[in-house]
Amino acid sequence: MLVALDGPAGAGKSTVARAVAEALGFTYLDTGAMYRCVGLRAAVDPDVDAATLDIRFDGERVLLDGEDVSDTIRTPEAGQVASRIATDPAVREALVTAQRRIIATGDFVAEGRDIGTVVAPDAEVKVWLTASAEERARRREIPVQELTERDERDASRETSPMKPADDAVEVDTTGLAIDEVVARIVGLVGAVR
Ligand code: C5P
Repeated sequence: MLVALDGPAGAGKSTVARAVAEALGFTYLDTGAMYRCVGLRAAVDPDVDAATLDIRFDGERVLLDGEDVSDTIRTPEAGQVASRIATDPAVREALVTAQRRIIATGDFVAEGRDIGTVVAPDAEVKVWLTASAEERARRREIPVQELTERDERDASRETSPMKPADDAVEVDTTGLAIDEVVARIVGLVGAVR
Protein backbone atom coordinates (compact mmCIF):
# COMPACT_ATOMS: atom_id res chain seq x y z
CA MET A 1 0.00 0.00 0.00
CA LEU A 2 1.25 3.48 -0.87
CA VAL A 3 0.19 6.93 0.25
CA ALA A 4 1.55 9.52 -2.21
CA LEU A 5 1.94 12.93 -0.63
CA ASP A 6 2.89 15.69 -3.06
CA GLY A 7 2.88 19.46 -2.94
CA PRO A 8 5.02 22.60 -2.91
CA ALA A 9 7.82 23.45 -0.47
CA GLY A 10 6.63 24.28 3.04
CA ALA A 11 3.15 22.77 2.66
CA GLY A 12 3.92 20.56 5.68
CA LYS A 13 4.61 17.37 3.73
CA SER A 14 7.47 16.08 5.89
CA THR A 15 5.73 16.61 9.21
CA VAL A 16 2.44 15.23 7.94
CA ALA A 17 4.01 12.29 6.08
CA ARG A 18 5.99 11.24 9.16
CA ALA A 19 2.92 11.42 11.38
CA VAL A 20 0.70 9.56 8.89
CA ALA A 21 3.35 6.84 8.51
CA GLU A 22 3.57 6.46 12.26
CA ALA A 23 -0.22 6.34 12.68
CA LEU A 24 -0.51 3.61 10.04
CA GLY A 25 2.67 1.67 10.82
CA PHE A 26 4.00 2.45 7.32
CA THR A 27 7.55 3.52 6.41
CA TYR A 28 8.19 7.16 5.51
CA LEU A 29 10.10 7.98 2.30
CA ASP A 30 11.46 11.51 1.86
CA THR A 31 12.21 11.79 -1.87
CA GLY A 32 13.26 15.45 -1.50
CA ALA A 33 16.17 14.24 0.64
CA MET A 34 17.35 12.18 -2.34
CA TYR A 35 17.36 15.25 -4.63
CA ARG A 36 19.17 17.17 -1.89
CA CYS A 37 21.85 14.44 -1.75
CA VAL A 38 22.43 14.66 -5.49
CA GLY A 39 22.58 18.47 -5.13
CA LEU A 40 25.25 18.14 -2.48
CA ARG A 41 27.45 16.10 -4.81
CA ALA A 42 26.64 18.24 -7.87
CA ALA A 43 27.81 21.33 -5.99
CA VAL A 44 31.36 19.92 -6.03
CA ASP A 45 31.11 17.71 -9.16
CA PRO A 46 28.72 19.15 -11.79
CA ASP A 47 29.03 15.96 -13.91
CA VAL A 48 28.03 13.59 -11.11
CA ASP A 49 26.01 10.57 -12.26
CA ALA A 50 23.07 10.31 -9.83
CA ALA A 51 22.68 6.60 -10.61
CA THR A 52 26.06 5.85 -9.03
CA LEU A 53 25.30 7.49 -5.68
CA ASP A 54 24.49 5.31 -2.69
CA ILE A 55 21.59 7.07 -0.91
CA ARG A 56 20.20 5.29 2.13
CA PHE A 57 17.83 6.01 4.98
CA ASP A 58 18.61 4.82 8.46
CA GLY A 59 15.66 5.83 10.59
CA GLU A 60 15.73 9.63 10.59
CA ARG A 61 19.30 9.78 9.22
CA VAL A 62 20.21 10.16 5.55
CA LEU A 63 23.43 8.50 4.38
CA LEU A 64 25.16 9.52 1.16
CA ASP A 65 27.92 7.09 0.15
CA GLY A 66 28.10 6.08 3.80
CA GLU A 67 28.39 9.64 5.15
CA ASP A 68 25.69 11.08 7.42
CA VAL A 69 24.45 14.17 5.55
CA SER A 70 21.16 14.56 7.46
CA ASP A 71 21.98 18.10 8.60
CA THR A 72 23.96 19.33 5.58
CA ILE A 73 21.11 18.63 3.16
CA ARG A 74 18.66 20.74 5.21
CA THR A 75 20.17 24.18 4.61
CA PRO A 76 18.23 26.60 2.36
CA GLU A 77 21.24 26.59 -0.03
CA ALA A 78 21.03 22.80 -0.38
CA GLY A 79 17.32 23.21 -1.13
CA GLN A 80 18.06 25.67 -3.91
CA VAL A 81 20.72 23.42 -5.49
CA ALA A 82 18.36 20.43 -5.21
CA SER A 83 15.64 22.33 -7.00
CA ARG A 84 18.07 23.17 -9.84
CA ILE A 85 19.43 19.65 -10.35
CA ALA A 86 15.85 18.29 -10.12
CA THR A 87 15.24 19.74 -13.60
CA ASP A 88 17.82 17.30 -15.06
CA PRO A 89 16.01 14.35 -16.73
CA ALA A 90 18.94 11.97 -16.05
CA VAL A 91 18.84 12.81 -12.33
CA ARG A 92 15.08 12.29 -12.21
CA GLU A 93 15.27 8.98 -14.03
CA ALA A 94 17.93 7.66 -11.63
CA LEU A 95 16.03 8.76 -8.53
CA VAL A 96 12.60 7.63 -9.73
CA THR A 97 14.08 4.17 -10.39
CA ALA A 98 15.57 4.10 -6.90
CA GLN A 99 12.30 5.31 -5.34
CA ARG A 100 10.21 2.66 -7.12
CA ARG A 101 12.60 0.00 -5.86
CA ILE A 102 12.24 1.25 -2.29
CA ILE A 103 8.43 1.53 -2.21
CA ALA A 104 8.07 -1.95 -3.69
CA THR A 105 9.48 -3.37 -0.45
CA GLY A 106 6.49 -2.60 1.81
CA ASP A 107 3.84 -0.10 2.88
CA PHE A 108 5.01 3.49 2.46
CA VAL A 109 4.03 7.10 2.84
CA ALA A 110 6.17 8.76 0.15
CA GLU A 111 6.42 12.51 -0.08
CA GLY A 112 7.68 14.60 -2.99
CA ARG A 113 6.50 16.50 -6.05
CA ASP A 114 5.82 13.70 -8.54
CA ILE A 115 4.92 10.62 -6.51
CA GLY A 116 1.26 10.47 -7.58
CA THR A 117 1.98 11.49 -11.17
CA VAL A 118 5.26 9.76 -12.10
CA VAL A 119 6.82 7.57 -9.42
CA ALA A 120 3.63 5.70 -8.52
CA PRO A 121 0.59 6.64 -10.59
CA ASP A 122 -1.09 3.53 -9.12
CA ALA A 123 -0.78 4.71 -5.50
CA GLU A 124 -3.92 3.78 -3.56
CA VAL A 125 -4.14 7.20 -1.89
CA LYS A 126 -2.90 10.46 -3.41
CA VAL A 127 -2.84 13.71 -1.52
CA TRP A 128 -1.89 17.15 -2.80
CA LEU A 129 -0.88 19.20 0.23
CA THR A 130 -0.89 23.00 -0.06
CA ALA A 131 -0.82 26.13 2.08
CA SER A 132 -0.65 29.83 1.28
CA ALA A 133 2.74 31.10 -0.01
CA GLU A 134 3.07 33.37 3.04
CA GLU A 135 2.55 30.53 5.49
CA ARG A 136 4.89 28.23 3.56
CA ALA A 137 7.68 30.85 3.43
CA ARG A 138 7.29 31.44 7.16
CA ARG A 139 7.55 27.72 7.89
CA ARG A 140 10.67 27.40 5.74
CA GLU A 141 12.14 30.64 7.13
CA ILE A 142 12.89 31.90 3.64
CA PRO A 143 11.65 35.02 1.82
CA VAL A 144 8.30 34.62 -0.04
CA GLN A 145 10.06 35.49 -3.29
CA GLU A 146 12.62 32.67 -2.91
CA LEU A 147 9.78 30.25 -2.25
CA THR A 148 7.70 31.32 -5.23
CA GLU A 149 10.79 31.13 -7.45
CA ARG A 150 11.28 27.54 -6.37
CA ASP A 151 7.59 26.76 -6.91
CA GLU A 152 7.82 28.18 -10.41
CA ARG A 153 10.94 26.19 -11.24
CA ASP A 154 9.35 22.99 -9.91
CA ALA A 155 6.07 23.60 -11.76
CA SER A 156 7.52 24.71 -15.09
CA ARG A 157 10.29 22.15 -15.67
CA GLU A 158 9.81 19.90 -18.67
CA THR A 159 10.46 16.59 -16.93
CA SER A 160 7.88 15.69 -14.28
CA PRO A 161 6.65 19.19 -13.45
CA MET A 162 5.18 19.56 -9.98
CA LYS A 163 1.42 19.25 -10.30
CA PRO A 164 -1.44 17.43 -8.59
CA ALA A 165 -2.43 14.06 -10.03
CA ASP A 166 -5.93 14.19 -11.52
CA ASP A 167 -7.16 11.84 -8.81
CA ALA A 168 -5.34 13.50 -5.88
CA VAL A 169 -7.31 14.84 -2.93
CA GLU A 170 -6.28 18.42 -2.20
CA VAL A 171 -5.70 19.31 1.45
CA ASP A 172 -4.99 22.99 2.25
CA THR A 173 -3.09 23.09 5.54
CA THR A 174 -3.26 26.88 6.01
CA GLY A 175 -4.46 27.45 9.56
CA LEU A 176 -5.03 23.72 10.18
CA ALA A 177 -3.43 21.85 13.08
CA ILE A 178 -1.19 18.95 12.10
CA ASP A 179 -3.49 16.50 13.91
CA GLU A 180 -6.42 17.57 11.75
CA VAL A 181 -4.45 17.05 8.53
CA VAL A 182 -3.14 13.67 9.70
CA ALA A 183 -6.64 12.50 10.72
CA ARG A 184 -7.99 13.49 7.33
CA ILE A 185 -5.33 11.50 5.45
CA VAL A 186 -5.60 8.48 7.76
CA GLY A 187 -9.33 8.62 7.04
CA LEU A 188 -8.66 8.52 3.28
CA VAL A 189 -6.51 5.43 3.78
CA GLY A 190 -9.21 3.78 5.91
CA ALA A 191 -11.73 4.35 3.12
CA VAL A 192 -9.74 2.36 0.55
CA ARG A 193 -8.43 -0.38 2.80
O1 C5P B 1 10.96 18.56 -0.50
P1 C5P B 1 12.30 19.21 -0.50
O2 C5P B 1 12.28 20.69 -0.28
O3 C5P B 1 13.28 18.52 0.39
O4 C5P B 1 12.85 19.00 -1.99
C1 C5P B 1 13.99 19.69 -2.46
C2 C5P B 1 13.83 19.92 -3.97
O5 C5P B 1 13.88 18.67 -4.64
C3 C5P B 1 12.48 20.53 -4.37
O6 C5P B 1 12.50 21.93 -4.41
C4 C5P B 1 12.26 19.96 -5.75
O7 C5P B 1 12.85 20.79 -6.72
C5 C5P B 1 13.01 18.65 -5.76
N1 C5P B 1 12.13 17.48 -5.68
C6 C5P B 1 11.59 17.00 -6.85
N2 C5P B 1 10.84 15.87 -6.84
C7 C5P B 1 10.59 15.21 -5.69
C8 C5P B 1 11.12 15.71 -4.46
C9 C5P B 1 11.87 16.85 -4.49
O8 C5P B 1 11.78 17.60 -7.90
N3 C5P B 1 9.87 14.09 -5.72
